[in-house]
Amino acid sequence: MSEAFDVIVIGSGPGGYVCAIRAAQLGMKVACVEKRATLGGTCLNVGCIPSKALLHSSENFEAASHDFAEHGVMVDGVKLDLARMQARKGEVVTANTRGVEFLFRKNKVTWLKGEGRIAAPGRVAVDGTDYETKNIVIATGSESMPLPGVAVDEKAIVTSTGALELDKVPGHLVVIGGGVIGLELGSVWRRLGAEVTVVEFLDHIVPGTDREVGRQFERILAKQGLKFRLSTKVTAATAGSDGVTLTLEPAKGGPAETLKADVVLVAIGRRAFTAGLGAAEIGVALDERGRVKTDGHYATNIPGIYAIGDVIAGPMLAHKAEDEGVALAERLAGQAGHVNYGVIPGVVYTWPELATVGQTEEQLKAAGVDYRIGKFPFTANGRARAMGMTDGFVKLLADKKTDRLLGAHILGPDAGTLIAEIALAMEFGASAEDVARTCHAHPSLNEAVKEAALAVDGRALHI
Ligand code: FAD
Ligand code: NAI
Repeated sequence: MSEAFDVIVIGSGPGGYVCAIRAAQLGMKVACVEKRATLGGTCLNVGCIPSKALLHSSENFEAASHDFAEHGVMVDGVKLDLARMQARKGEVVTANTRGVEFLFRKNKVTWLKGEGRIAAPGRVAVDGTDYETKNIVIATGSESMPLPGVAVDEKAIVTSTGALELDKVPGHLVVIGGGVIGLELGSVWRRLGAEVTVVEFLDHIVPGTDREVGRQFERILAKQGLKFRLSTKVTAATAGSDGVTLTLEPAKGGPAETLKADVVLVAIGRRAFTAGLGAAEIGVALDERGRVKTDGHYATNIPGIYAIGDVIAGPMLAHKAEDEGVALAERLAGQAGHVNYGVIPGVVYTWPELATVGQTEEQLKAAGVDYRIGKFPFTANGRARAMGMTDGFVKLLADKKTDRLLGAHILGPDAGTLIAEIALAMEFGASAEDVARTCHAHPSLNEAVKEAALAVDGRALHI
């Protein structure tokens, strides 16, 4: 038996590394096991960070190619250097993963390199060495969901990981799944010159999003050139020398048809990852979707074993994993860590961005809650006009009787930043009136949030 720890965290994604740092800050002796060559998990290596780097770079390319002229900025012969764009993305990733290494050193968190297996409660084996620990935290994240009949080779048929690494712009990219990954990475490759077709099983994209906002989002993306095949399922995809041939069928049954693609991105969701962990073998209970079952305080059914992040229930988001990491570390230190699941923002980093927090109109209707709506379009916002970015609107939902904010859905420029104001307001139990009476700088995009709050009471000023 080797060294003993207070906490061993398995997995160094945003859930695991943040949990390790917070536990170390609270005086515990902490190790974090990671089998990947770099720290940071899916998010930093093949998720949030590289996708946002490519989204930003491709946005610049599109702006230089199409939008600068409107501002009187004339650039001739804009050319794409994809190799440079990809290299920059790699540099951004490295800066972030090294950052986590630095934070581990700073906080005296030991990185145990290799694959971690729970040998027994209180014992973790890492590539042949056993470590004793008072607590084990499973933070092993998630992996791309496979689609029967579609074999991923990460070249012609790719998951998000392969789609972030393409060294050539595909002529035709077919994306299976009109969710977050499909729309973000579909947008990247469309901007860089690919024809992009999104095949979605449901009759709408971004399921779970407020439908009015989702419909407008779909219209804007379609205007940009994304093609949508809704209510359609892919039943097979075969890669050959001349690209990939897909078999498509109407979701509710009907005649099949074929579609040709140069590259196919499978983005139909992600599933909890516990392979090789040994959790089920020692009796850790999993749910029907293979996620580690936990109670309200991240404890599994085995004393001393906890789980957080994508591997447990809830939205698969980096900030949700991080907040759970902090809450659990604080609980292990005897404090009262807590996550408010009613106020977790979600952002799709397309153009325009789609940001949401709290409940949708559909959820409020289903729950029988009486609500009022306040909406304000970016066409009526001075700053958005100055920027030439007027697509989208802010939609706020407030309780009809108490005026308490229940949800916000923002489609527009920098919506991912704007949503933070409402998330904070909701944490404080604010009313729409509270936001409406807060002085907002002029000219700013945030004024659209204030106007939507005024609109809840029918008193918007600029429309
Ligand atoms: P992960 O980040 O998946 O980390 C788990 C780690 O555990 C991995 O490094 C893995 O190697 C390691 N591991 C697994 N098993 C073992 C073992 N037995 N031993 C040792 N190590 C092990 N979320 C957002 O909030 N915003 C975004 O913009 C965003 N963009 C995304 C873009 C893409 C393309 C993808 C795929 C995901 C994106 N996500 C985004 C989701 C986000 O990446 C996840 O929610 C987040 O990474 C979950 O964190 P985690 O700590 O639970 O697990
Ligand atoms: P998703 O759940 O967002 O979308 C999957 C889509 O595929 C859904 O619209 C679903 O109806 C559709 N679908 C399912 N089966 C299908 C089939 N057989 N044929 C056609 N369509 C089918 O999942 P996605 O996009 O893979 O992302 C996985 C996770 O990663 C998400 O939970 C998301 O939270 C996270 N993520 C977050 C990002 C962000 O916060 N900006 C960015 C990227 C990923």
